[in-house]
Amino acid sequence: MHVYLKGRSFLTLKDFTPQEIRFLLDLSHDLKRKKRMGIPGDLLQGKNIVLLFEKTSTRTRCAFETACWDEGGNATFLSNSQMGKKESLEDTARVLGRFYDGIEFRGFSQQTAEDLARYAGVPVWNGLTDRCHPTQALADVMTLEECAGKPLSQCKLAYVGDARNNVANSLMIICAKLGIHYTAVCPPELMPEAGLLEDMAALARQTGGETKVRHDLAGVGGADAVYTDVWVSMGEEDRFKERIRMLQPYQVNSALMEKTGNPKAIFLHCLPAFHDLNTETGREVHKEYGLKEMEVSDGVFRSSQSRVFDQAENRLHTIKAVMVATIGRQ
Ligand code: CP
Ligand code: NVA
Repeated sequence: MHVYLKGRSFLTLKDFTPQEIRFLLDLSHDLKRKKRMGIPGDLLQGKNIVLLFEKTSTRTRCAFETACWDEGGNATFLSNSQMGKKESLEDTARVLGRFYDGIEFRGFSQQTAEDLARYAGVPVWNGLTDRCHPTQALADVMTLEECAGKPLSQCKLAYVGDARNNVANSLMIICAKLGIHYTAVCPPELMPEAGLLEDMAALARQTGGETKVRHDLAGVGGADAVYTDVWVSMGEEDRFKERIRMLQPYQVNSALMEKTGNPKAIFLHCLPAFHDLNTETGREVHKEYGLKEMEVSDGVFRSSQSRVFDQAENRLHTIKAVMVATIGRQ
């Protein structure tokens, strides 16, 4: 089937068919091989992109910039624009659309990403909002594909922790689209939003996958990958106390990895992770609540099962694929 994504925005994976997602993954693998072989790229030559950030970032910003440079494009990082303060979103989008061929947005509201796409006249790529993190999910599935040694449709992914956050939402969507068996293992208070869960469970029934929620840790049984994310996402910094109370039993540690019953199960995390006391936040939480590690133990994070740095690298290849497919010469 012919897939054509030129001019499309990448706001949520819900907008993409399984064939289109498969195309982006195949392109990501190709671009990774090309980079490994040291072949210089020109697929974004003559293209300018702007990276609009309301929230902090290491991987997403660096992936967009290096991906763009690798393929001969130019990138502007913009974290102090007038948008919303002295200039409306609409006017900002119209101006940026005159300067740039594509706009990355990371921020709070999904509506902002959608409105930018509405007015800019060029593709807008979602680099994370409160609701979803679609470029992350592409990298996650690419990593699973590299490690699992079997088709994605035979893989089982268990997401443990805050199952209603942006990362979990996008993972649940991509799994349902591709027929990957997805289990959210979470406390009742942090379940995926009911409407999204229902829609994805229905979609998974069509694609040969399964979308489930379990509150007991045995829910990770048979998993090929155990995934977790921070307990408190950006913008929720006043929630540490309640989240620690809810999520401490769901920490990914060696006992939980053993519950998969699969010694080959890999560990995934979008990063950044709180697995030791080498961060300011980690030390503050330690001082206040006595925890030395949060969502993942240092042991699991550093274990041979952990693929978190491959996953981080794959942000580059997948983001490059999204840009090449939507504005590139490919
Ligand atoms: N995983 C991820 O989005 O990382 P950054 O917040 O560093 O971009
Ligand atoms: N859920 C996290 C993901 C960070 C990449 C957050 O939104 O802060």
